[in-house]
Amino acid sequence: MRTENFDTVILGAGAAGMMCAIHAAARGGRVLVIDHAKSPGEKIRISGGGRCNFTNLGSSPRNFLSQNPHFAKSALGRYTQHDFITLVEKHGIAYHEKTLGQLFCDHSAKDIIAMLLDEMAQVGCEIRLKTSLGTVERTDAGFSLVLAGDGAGKVRCRHFVVACGGKSIPKMGATGLGYQIAERFGLAVTETRPALVPLTFGEDMLDGFREIAGVAVDARVSCGKAAFKEALLFTHRGLSGPSILQISSYWREKQPISIALLPDVDFARVLLDAKRENARRSIANALGEILPKRLASYLAQTHGWSGTLGEASDRKLLSIAQALHGWELYPVGSEGYRTAEVTLGGVDTACLNSRTMEAKGADGLYFIGEVVDVTGWLGGYNFQWAWSSGWATGTAI
Ligand code: FDA
Repeated sequence: MRTENFDTVILGAGAAGMMCAIHAAARGGRVLVIDHAKSPGEKIRISGGGRCNFTNLGSSPRNFLSQNPHFAKSALGRYTQHDFITLVEKHGIAYHEKTLGQLFCDHSAKDIIAMLLDEMAQVGCEIRLKTSLGTVERTDAGFSLVLAGDGAGKVRCRHFVVACGGKSIPKMGATGLGYQIAERFGLAVTETRPALVPLTFGEDMLDGFREIAGVAVDARVSCGKAAFKEALLFTHRGLSGPSILQISSYWREKQPISIALLPDVDFARVLLDAKRENARRSIANALGEILPKRLASYLAQTHGWSGTLGEASDRKLLSIAQALHGWELYPVGSEGYRTAEVTLGGVDTACLNSRTMEAKGADGLYFIGEVVDVTGWLGGYNFQWAWSSGWATGTAI
């Protein structure tokens, strides 16, 4: 078998791998990117409903979860959202802010993939698709890899960059191989779990949720000290919507989540005023003026808020108002990696150099993007981590 020599081989042609390839090759190195998929950047393509929420204007280290919250600061601070926006603008890609600083392509996520491929071509990166990693061995000068599939062959390189993402959406080829490589080279991997994922409930709750499946409402959802004010969606399986996806990264089994429906509405005032105006109105109808009607009648039914406003004492109305801002629910689980947008946890940051992402004790081995124990909130933060960590390694090798 013929052996080829590269300076850098990158496993994974996703967001982080392509960003790393661009900068590593710009420094003059011979760079090969391999991916078992038939197209590069498949997760970019499906992201943001096909429009890719490629970064967030307000991205800062506080939007990321990690066992070491300081780890991401260096990369995020040196390659920022503004650097990526400059690249997007250089390629004439039209974009807009949707909400909360989230930037989306006007036309298609494919614009971002085309931009990355164009940048890679300009600096002469080679990319081999439908190619998987057979084996990786340490050599005196770096690594020796055996590749299988369309790009089969033996390859030697000085730097080996693991950018193969996490375990989310196995149907799209997520394998968790990155964690195995880390462990094989003696690096610790923190507990991994699905994150940015809908939460599921037991049959007792689902009977009711099915009646209101499809109803969306603004809410403040909290778990412990974490809280997010965004939309919440009732589904046949439980709860979804941005506020739930966000809190799923913080929630753990057996813990409750607390929901404040329409957190900016003063329900006590609303109910007391409604009683004064028309005491013969039912509580459910009065709530249905502000909340989605189906949700209002579901809540009235399940909480036993029957009768008219006039029949309820002011104290009772105040307790209803309190319940609407402190609805405690116990999820039984999540929809898992099948629908999770990301994997929480990953290669332990204590084993990596925060400037370069190089593994401590394994010179020339790097981990970037989602495979690392750095997980962003929903809203473009995960791509920003992929760009920043990819840049940090690409410019260091
Ligand atoms: P990524 O998963 O992108 O790339 C890994 C690459 O490695 C893939 O090309 C894969 O084929 C390849 N690979 C895996 N295993 C391999 C193996 N064994 N051999 C060879 N190749 C292998 N984030 C955000 O900021 N904004 C958004 O809008 C969205 N939207 C979104 C929607 C959906 C449905 C999902 C599932 C996820 C998002 N995300 C997101 C999260 C975002 O997609 C994610 O954080 C990044 O893609 C991570 O980039 P990486 O390059 O680390 O991994």
